[in-house]
Amino acid sequence: MADLLQIRHPSSGTEAELAITDGTIRAVDLREVVVDGEPLATYDPGYVNTASCRSAITYIDGNAGVLEYRGYPIEQLAEQSTFLEVAWLLLNGELPTAGELAEWERLITEHRMLPDKLKTVLAGFPYDAHPMTILMASTAAFYSFYPDARNFDDPEARSLNIARLIAKMPTLAAFAYRKGKAKPYINPDDAYGYCHNFLAMLFKQAERRYVADERLIRAVEVLFILHADHEQNCSTSAVRSVASSGNDLYTCVSAGVGALHGPLHGGANEAVLTMLREIGTVDRVPEFIEGVKAGRVRMMGFGHRVYKNYDPRAKIIKRAVEDVFEITGVNPLLQVAQELEKYGLTDEYFVSRRLYPNVDFYSGLIYEALGFPPEMFTVLFAIPRTAGWAAHYQEFITDPDNKIARPKQIYTGYPTRSYVPIEDRG
Ligand code: ACO
Repeated sequence: MADLLQIRHPSSGTEAELAITDGTIRAVDLREVVVDGEPLATYDPGYVNTASCRSAITYIDGNAGVLEYRGYPIEQLAEQSTFLEVAWLLLNGELPTAGELAEWERLITEHRMLPDKLKTVLAGFPYDAHPMTILMASTAAFYSFYPDARNFDDPEARSLNIARLIAKMPTLAAFAYRKGKAKPYINPDDAYGYCHNFLAMLFKQAERRYVADERLIRAVEVLFILHADHEQNCSTSAVRSVASSGNDLYTCVSAGVGALHGPLHGGANEAVLTMLREIGTVDRVPEFIEGVKAGRVRMMGFGHRVYKNYDPRAKIIKRAVEDVFEITGVNPLLQVAQELEKYGLTDEYFVSRRLYPNVDFYSGLIYEALGFPPEMFTVLFAIPRTAGWAAHYQEFITDPDNKIARPKQIYTGYPTRSYVPIEDRG
């Protein structure tokens, strides 16, 4: 027998039995309960306790600090996998065989180049344009170049456009970066893997071949794996929401990039660096903490809607910080970050609210050590998250339960009133 929730509304005498499935009730079933002549609804700003879909991609246990892609723990993937293998896993549900992986890597390598005319679009941006705005506009523009993306019900067209986008994101990001530096663009190099090629497109100077330190390539690979997906976060929900009106992948991912840009989401890593710079030295940390407790500022890189424990990605990144600093030298802001973390893990304000470091707390320090300016940090997040967005887009498109996103509201405005001609207004 199905598990049931019994609801009784004493003043109207309404009673209803709602089926509980997967630990949830269907919000539409609440309509059986009629209050003041109206079917009952829920009020949930920010979807704090509302599941918007069924998904088989990523599992998070926020209390235990667990993150898994398709059942595989993030720690094992970060240790043993590559970003492209993880992207395949997110999209297909299984780890690829050696043959599948080789073909997937070949396909991605084949599609790395940007359409030539898109470079004219990129050239039109001001030299100091934020690279996230370039990324947002260019991903949307891709649809003009690949209109077959509208055939999203055709699995072949869908897969081709997903591969195109995953392949082109690093190229686009590198173009945006070099534009800001007024440096000539570097085309992709087929001899390099995904992460090495990205570093080459960013940092190649006059040398014939750019060769990155293997440990730095691995650090980028790990960061990309950690950022590849995170179930129904703000940007993924934006992707699904835009997909729900029947849009192509590029339009949806452009919306995802926009959502990610905000400082409460992917923009937090940039905000962490700004915060660390403003604090400057360890002796100024107590004063900053007082400001946080008084509600004047937020401690960026701390707190999470889902994790009420140490974010497992932050733990892995913290270890990677040490590896990267061995090669690049220690950033003095690391001490400030460590001191902030000490307060965060012991001070009653943070402990009682279960605020722990999130993925963004240390990632900015690595990005800076690798030579990226802060405005590139969120771009570095967007590249791997494209794999997650694409996996959710695909899951949404093929979900028989999918529906156009159209939340209800509680109307708080005026009751009906009559139009007042302008000459009669106060
Ligand atoms: N610094 C100080 N106080 C905080 C912080 C913080 N970073 N985060 C939450 N709080 C406090 C709130 O003021 C609130 O306190 P109150 O109960 O006294 O009012 C309580 O903790 C709960 O906070 P909410 O804002 O309700 O939590 P919510 O789940 O809505 O927000 C969020 C989560 C947006 C991530 C928040 O913790 C935050 O702003 N953190 C800083 C930004 C950040 O690092 N974002 C990256 C998240 S990870 C990612 O997107 C990849």
